[in-house]
Amino acid sequence: MAASDFVLFVLLVATCSIAFASDPSPLQDFCVADPSSPALVNGFVCKDSKMVEASDFFFSGLHLPGNTSNPVGSKVTPVTVAQIPGLNTLGISLARVDFAPWGINAPHTHPRATEILTVIEGSLEVGFVTSNPENNLIRKVLQKGDVFVFPKGLVHFERNVGYGNAVAIVGLSSQNPGVITIGNAVFGSKPAIADDLLAKSFQVDTKTVDWIQSKF
Ligand SMILES: *[C@@H]1O[C@H](CO)[C@@H](O)[C@H](O)[C@H]1NC(C)=O
Repeated sequence: MAASDFVLFVLLVATCSIAFASDPSPLQDFCVADPSSPALVNGFVCKDSKMVEASDFFFSGLHLPGNTSNPVGSKVTPVTVAQIPGLNTLGISLARVDFAPWGINAPHTHPRATEILTVIEGSLEVGFVTSNPENNLIRKVLQKGDVFVFPKGLVHFERNVGYGNAVAIVGLSSQNPGVITIGNAVFGSKPAIADDLLAKSFQVDTKTVDWIQSKF
């Protein structure tokens, strides 16, 4: 290969690895998670494929509403690698989200996944905020059958804007998307972030911070 071809090849490889950055591709049919393995890897160790059965790829009960009797009026029922070990290494998962009237799914982010949401009952206000320094709010009210996307890593939220219950089904581009709820992370960490640090961050007094921290 000529030197110029080689440079082109390296550039092509580098470009591809950027363009296709995501969960690693499986190198076999499946790698059913074996959470009991003492080996620590990125994801879970594979269960012996001879021992794999249908139940490793199965979950039931997603037709059942989540219990929304809580201060935010919503409940997420996740279906990730924690519920279906067969999702390990496959880069996909889903969840059901139930909302009481005017219930919210508080601002949060999934560090490892883009999310695609569809409303199957009721109507939802949804939104996400773009990165610094713009912090633009991209917001829309969705009706039954509408679909909306929250790009990976961005802070987003949902709110039931109807007087009946609302239900959404979401797909996520990771078997283990993770969730960081902004309020819980900032005001509910253990141990707590210093209240004077948060007071300066949010431009309020420490009493206000202490009061918010007490809610988490
Ligand atoms: C829903 O959650 C509330 C609060 O934890 C609890 O009191 C209630 O019994 C639950 N309802 C059902 C049907 O499980």
